[in-house]
Amino acid sequence: AGAAGPRLVGRAAATGELLGSAVPLPAPFQVPLPVPAVLAPVAKDADADRYEIVQRQTTAEILPGLRTPIWGYQGTFPGPTIESRSGRTAVVRHRNELPVPTVVHLHGGRTPPDSDGYATDLVLPADGTHAAFSHGGHTGMRDPDATVTRGEREYRYPLRQQAATLWYHDHRMDFTGPAVYRGLAGFHIVRDDEEDALPLPRGERELPLMITDRAFAADGSMRYPSVDPSLTTLPGVEEPYVEGVLGDVILVNGAPWPVAEVSAARHRLRVLNASNARRYDLALDPPPPGGGAFTQIGADQGLLAAPRVHGHLPIAPAERYDLVVDFGRYPVGTEVTLVNRLGTGTTARVMRFRVARRGAEDSRVPDRLADVAPLDRAQAAVTRDFSFRGGRVGDRHGWTVNGEPYAPTRIDARPRLGAVEIWRFVADLHHPIHLHLVHFHVLSRGGRAPGPYDAGRKDTVDLRPGEAVEVIARFDGYRGRYMFHCHNAEHEDMGMMANFATV
Ligand code: C2O
Ligand code: CU
Repeated sequence: AGAAGPRLVGRAAATGELLGSAVPLPAPFQVPLPVPAVLAPVAKDADADRYEIVQRQTTAEILPGLRTPIWGYQGTFPGPTIESRSGRTAVVRHRNELPVPTVVHLHGGRTPPDSDGYATDLVLPADGTHAAFSHGGHTGMRDPDATVTRGEREYRYPLRQQAATLWYHDHRMDFTGPAVYRGLAGFHIVRDDEEDALPLPRGERELPLMITDRAFAADGSMRYPSVDPSLTTLPGVEEPYVEGVLGDVILVNGAPWPVAEVSAARHRLRVLNASNARRYDLALDPPPPGGGAFTQIGADQGLLAAPRVHGHLPIAPAERYDLVVDFGRYPVGTEVTLVNRLGTGTTARVMRFRVARRGAEDSRVPDRLADVAPLDRAQAAVTRDFSFRGGRVGDRHGWTVNGEPYAPTRIDARPRLGAVEIWRFVADLHHPIHLHLVHFHVLSRGGRAPGPYDAGRKDTVDLRPGEAVEVIARFDGYRGRYMFHCHNAEHEDMGMMANFATV
C-alpha cells in the first residue's frame, strides 16, 4: 500500500487502473462476513409488497478503526436485501437524500420502462440542490423524454420471471461508476415454487456474496478519481477516468477479506461481482480432495437445467453465479480461502471459510434443476451486430458501441415485441455486456460452442479481446426503450452504452 498514483495494469487481466490505498491495510480474514439485512415491507397489499428506501450519506467502519463516508441505500453498503416471490409485484419508493441526482435500476429485472431506471430518469435530491440539473452528458445531448422527479420516485417491479439473484444499483448517465463505488448497490432475490421444491442448502447455509474492490485515502474515504463530469470545469476537480477503477482492497458484503464460519456441509453461495471494473477468477485454496470446488446451479437469471462442476470460476462485473460448495469434503478445522487467480498481492484473496464444526447434511444437488428451454437459432427473425471499442467521446478518449458514444435519444435496435433475435458482439478488450429487460442464452463464443461458464439464462456476458460472441434472446415483456451497455462502470460512463426499443 502507499499513496502512489494510479497505474495501468495488464489489459488482459483487467481493463483498468489500479489505485493504491494510503492507509495500512488490515490483516485478512479477521472481520466476520456480514450478511446484508433483509428489508421488511412497509405494507403488503393484495397485489404488491411495498418498500421504502432512503438513499443517504453516512459513514461506515469498513476498515477496522476508520470511518469511511459512503452513499448507502438505507445508509448501508451493501444496501438491504429485498426478497420477493416470482410474480408478486414489489413497489419500492426511493427517497434521494444524497447531494447528487440518482437513478435506480433493478439489474436482471423484467421491468416496465418507466421503472427500469433509464439513465436520464433522474430523482433529484430532496433538499433542492441540483435544481437546474439537466443531463447533457459528455455529448451535450438533452433527453426530452426523460421523466425527472424531485426527492422521490416509486419503482414498480412486476417480477414476472423465474427465481434469480437480482441486484439493484445506481444507473445515472455518466455517473454510475462513482455512485456505485460509493456504495449504491444491494441484492434483490426472487424466489419461486420450482426452486423451493428442490433440496438445496437454505437458511444460514445460503449466503449472498457481493464482491467489490475499493481503495482508501489517508482520511478513510474511498479513493475514486472521477467526479461528476458536469463539474469538471471547477478548479481542482479531476477529469473522469475512462479505463475502469480497480482498488487494492477486496470487500465481500462490504467487509475487507472477511471470514465466515461454516459447518462441514453443503452451502449455497450466490456470488455477485459488483465491482466497477475488476474481473475475478475464483477458486478454493486448498481445493477439495478430488477437485471440482464449485457446483454451479444457476447463472445470472436463475437455475441451470442441470448442475455443472467447475474447478475455478471467472466472473466479470455484474455477473452472478449460483454455486454449491460442499464443505463436508474438508476435515473440520480446515481454513478454506476463496482466492482470485487474476489478482496479485492483496487482490489475490477474497475471503475465507473456516470449517468450524460438523453439521447434519440435509441438502443435495439434484441432477435436474429446472426447465430451461434454450432458444434455437432457427427461431431468430433478425441478427444484429454490435462492436464495443475505444473511440472518441466529445473531445476525449472514451468508449463506443458501433462507433458511437451513448446518446439517450438514439435507438440502435427496434426488436418487435416477442421476437427472437440473435445479437452478435465483438470487442477490442474485455467488456462485460449487459442487456436490460431480457435474458439470453450464449449461442457461440469465438465461432465455437459456448464456453463452460456460459450456460443458462444470462443477462451479462463477458466479451474477450477480439472474440465474437452470439447471444439469443426473446424480446418480450414490455414495450419501450431500454439500455444495453458495458458493465465496466467507467466504460459505461464514458460512452459504452446504447438503447434498443421493443416495438
Ligand atoms: Cu447492472 Cu444497466 O445495469
Ligand atoms: Cu467495457
